[in-house]
Amino acid sequence: MIIKEDIKRMFQIKNIRKDFPILEREVNGKQLVYLDNAATSQTPKQVIDVIVDYYTSYNSNIHRGVHALSQEATDKYEEARTKIQNHFNAKKKHEIIFTSGTTHGINIISSGFSQILKEKDEVIVSALEHHSNIVPWQMLCEKTGAILKVIPMNQEGELVVDQYDKLLSEKTKLVFVNHVSNALGTINPIKTIIDKAHHVGAAVLVDGAQACPHIKPDVQELGVDFYVASAHKIYGPTGVGVLYGKEKWLNMLPPYQGGGEMIATVSFEKTTYATLPHKFEAGTPNICGGIAFGAAIDYINNIGFKTIENYEIELLQYATKELLEIEGLTIYGEAKNKTSVISFNLKGIHPYDVGTLLDKMGIAVRTGHHCAQPIMDYYKIPGTIRASFSFYNTKEEIDALVSGVKKAKLMLS
Ligand code: ALA
Repeated sequence: MIIKEDIKRMFQIKNIRKDFPILEREVNGKQLVYLDNAATSQTPKQVIDVIVDYYTSYNSNIHRGVHALSQEATDKYEEARTKIQNHFNAKKKHEIIFTSGTTHGINIISSGFSQILKEKDEVIVSALEHHSNIVPWQMLCEKTGAILKVIPMNQEGELVVDQYDKLLSEKTKLVFVNHVSNALGTINPIKTIIDKAHHVGAAVLVDGAQACPHIKPDVQELGVDFYVASAHKIYGPTGVGVLYGKEKWLNMLPPYQGGGEMIATVSFEKTTYATLPHKFEAGTPNICGGIAFGAAIDYINNIGFKTIENYEIELLQYATKELLEIEGLTIYGEAKNKTSVISFNLKGIHPYDVGTLLDKMGIAVRTGHHCAQPIMDYYKIPGTIRASFSFYNTKEEIDALVSGVKKAKLMLS
C-alpha cells in the first residue's frame, strides 16, 4: 500500500531529478539508469548554470588583474573557498587549499612529509584504501626509508581496530585512512582512528572522497590534521577538489609545486613563498571549477544531509534485500555502518561480462577492482560489480538493476 509519506517522497524525487538533465537521456535505446555515483556523481543544472555563466560573463584570471572581470572572478572564487570552509567547518579560510582532486591533495601531503620523515619512522594505512591513498605513501616510504604498516580488514569489510592499537607506537608519524571505502561503502570509525593516532603524536590524513556525497564532515570536531575530497563526487565538476589542513601543518610543510602565485618574492639569489593558501596553489587554478564547487556545496546543503542519509539508507536496504534474492549472488562488504554502495558478484560469472550486459540495458555500474586491489585480494576475487546510489535514484531503478542482473545471469550461465 502506498502511504501519504511515499507519495510526498516520490513527488520530491521527481522534482530533484528534474535538476539533472542527463538523467533524461537514453543509452543503447534504453532509459539511462545511472548507478555509478561512486565513480562520479551527476551535475545539477544549478551547477551547470554557474559554469555557463562564468564562461559567458566573467572568464578571466584571478588574483592578478585590476580590471573588473578579474576582480569579479577573484571575488567569486574566494566566496567559494568560504563556502567550502563553512561546509567542512575549518577554523580558518586559509586552511582550505584548492586542488585538482583528492589524489592531488594526498600527493601534496605525502610529498611534503618526505622532508619530515626519517628512516625507520612508521606510517599506517588501512586495508580498505583506494590506490590513491596507498601508492603515494609507498613512494614516500621508498624515498625516506619509513615503514608502511597496514590495519587489517575482516570478512564484513570493516577495519579491525584492535589490530590498529597494536600497530601504533611512538614511532608512528602518520596515519592515512579513508572515511568511506569506495569499493565496499564501509564507513570507517575515523574519530576513533584519529584520537588513537594523536595519543601517540601521529598526524592523520582522511581521504573523504567517498564520504562527502553522504556525510558532512566537521574537521574541527574530528580533530583531523588533513582531510581531502573531490568536487565531482559531490555533484560538482571534475578537475577540482579540496585539501583541508591544520594551519600549523600547512605552515610547516614545504610547497608542492613552484610557479606563479605561490611566491612572496623572486630573485635569482632567493625566492620566498606566499602565505597560505597560495603557497600550495601554484599556477592558474581551475577557476570555474572552484566556483562551481561552491555552487555544488550550496546545492547539496539545500537538499540536506539528513534527508540524503535517510533516503539513501532506504535505497541501500531495498537493493540489498532484492539482490540477495538472486541465487548465486554474493555481496562483498556488509559493514554495520555503510553508505549506499553495493559490490557484488554472480557465482562463476566474470563481473565485466555482467557490467557489459547491464550497459546494453542502459544501466551504468562500475566493474573491476575499483582501484582497490588489496580488497579484491582479501576476498580472492578479480573484481566486483559495483552499484552506487545517490539521492536522485529511485526504487524503480533498483528494480531495473535487479531484473537486469537476473537477465545477465540467464544469458551468461
Ligand atoms: N574512485 C572512483 C571510484 O571508486 C573513481 O570509482
